[in-house]
Amino acid sequence: MSLLFRVNLILAVVFGAGLAVMLLLNRGLLLDSAHREAMNQAELMMLSARAARQYTSENIAPLLQDKIEQQFLPETVPAFAAGRIFERLRKDLPNYAYKEATLNPTNPEDRAADWEADVIRHFRNFPEQKEWSLERESPEGTVLVLARPIRIESASCLLCHSTPAAAPAAFRARYGDNNGYGWQVGEIVGSQIVSVPAAVPQELANRLLREFVIVVGATMLAVFIAVDAALILFVIRPLRRMSKLADALSKGEENVAQFDSRGASDIVSLGAAFNRMRRSLEKAMQMLAR
Ligand code: HEC
Repeated sequence: MSLLFRVNLILAVVFGAGLAVMLLLNRGLLLDSAHREAMNQAELMMLSARAARQYTSENIAPLLQDKIEQQFLPETVPAFAAGRIFERLRKDLPNYAYKEATLNPTNPEDRAADWEADVIRHFRNFPEQKEWSLERESPEGTVLVLARPIRIESASCLLCHSTPAAAPAAFRARYGDNNGYGWQVGEIVGSQIVSVPAAVPQELANRLLREFVIVVGATMLAVFIAVDAALILFVIRPLRRMSKLADALSKGEENVAQFDSRGASDIVSLGAAFNRMRRSLEKAMQMLAR
């Protein structure tokens, strides 16, 4: 096995092991940060929904208070505003969703699906829990879900959500008498549910990983080339020259040149020693010849 081959083999083993360890560590880190990124997006949507709700109840509802007496305007309802805003958002970002999933909803579109009903029941069983994040498979791929309970905090909500008799007539005319009633103060009636696709940040993590492998791989290749070139130039070539000279001398050839020792100090001193040995050998041969 040549020197070059051995050195390259050692380098390949060390680099390979290093790259494998780095990949393993970085993959975990990148996937973690992808998950955090998706969760940040979900949190942002949750905050936007809250802002839309607050804006509606604080800025819009008071303006339309007079009109509401004659005609019920759902535009004054926070749940309606948040629902419509995210409906529009979905036109640009179809994989992002916000829903106020409710077991007994006023608007049938808000009725909780099976898995959402499980989330609501979970919040009912653990009233202290303020937030729950989970991962689920959907037809569009893996989605990260952030859920928060919707609790009826104030009796003012019961104007529309207690009994049909208590609700404004215009409200009943629009939403009917069958659902969205019977809510109680303190009850968890539903859950705000934000879904964001996990694929986007995961794809980003994979791209970063690919770029990392390319950069590290290219650096390692450059190190290989540099080490090989240095080895050939400073060690292998002088050694070959020396072995050629030694070969010629051992065959008794005449006019064999001196070893030209240049370069690294180790090779220079080896060359000097070789030339000394050669002179001693020639002297010994001359003495023998006499
Ligand atoms: C003036 C009547 C009215 C009041 C008061 C009211 N809501 Fe509603 N609420 C509605 C209407 C109308 C909808 C359906 C909106 C839609 O079509 O998306 C609704 C929907 C909801 C929803 C979405 C689920 C569903 O039932 O469709 C939640 C959650 C909700 N309301 C919570 C509350 C809370 C909490 C309060 C008190 C802070 C409250 N509401 C007060 C009229 C009202």
